[in-house]
Amino acid sequence: MSDHKLYLYPKWLRVWHGINAVSIITLIATGISMQYSNLNYPIINFQSAVFFHNLFGVITLINYLVFVIVNSLTDNKKAYKLQFKGLIERLMVQSQYYLSGYFKGEPKPYPVSKTEKFNPLQKVAYVVTMYVLVPLVIITGVSLLFPEVIIENVLKTSGIRLTAIFHASLGFFISLFLFIHLYVASVGKHPFRNYRSIVTGYHED
Ligand code: HEM
Repeated sequence: MSDHKLYLYPKWLRVWHGINAVSIITLIATGISMQYSNLNYPIINFQSAVFFHNLFGVITLINYLVFVIVNSLTDNKKAYKLQFKGLIERLMVQSQYYLSGYFKGEPKPYPVSKTEKFNPLQKVAYVVTMYVLVPLVIITGVSLLFPEVIIENVLKTSGIRLTAIFHASLGFFISLFLFIHLYVASVGKHPFRNYRSIVTGYHED
């Protein structure tokens, strides 16, 4: 049993998060498959990979718009407000905890509360992912879906090629975020306790 429970993830956020997680994982799998496709030994059949990549790309776009709109209309937006004053110091304290304090059983430097549900590192990672990486991957993805909108030549290089490289690089950084996100979410008294919270809505200490 947990010491105390906090309701931090409302229903709309949990639904958004579930759709987003399934979509992004599908996009990563189909994206990698297309990138390294070999027609003789495809990881996923090429035509299917293209179809599902486009389909889940559109789902991610609509779902992302829902996130931005509902987040801006509810109190959840407060969790994404970055306080730049003293940020570097707070990031160092949190990194020190993840690298050493956690393994020594030290208390969390920034305990989860109703007003501060993210620690400083989480907050920066979520802001960068949700307001830089995801919108950029969507914009470049939609441009590749309608390549006629892309400038033909940039410094003698194909604009489409540059957009595709940028799009794949953003995909790489989102995959990196996901990898770290999954690890960090497992840090706590029990590895699955945080995973349960994004399903039930309740954070448990
Ligand atoms: C299977 C995949 C995933 C799992 C198991 C997972 C797990 C979790 C968990 C346990 C939380 C709540 C605790 C915490 O904040 O760390 C959370 C929150 C969050 N996750 Fe994920 N996640 C997944 C995929 C993703 C993806 C692909 C993204 C974005 C690209 C993402 C973005 C977020 C954001 C922004 C929050 C904070 C939501 C809020 O409270 O406003 N997650 N996730």
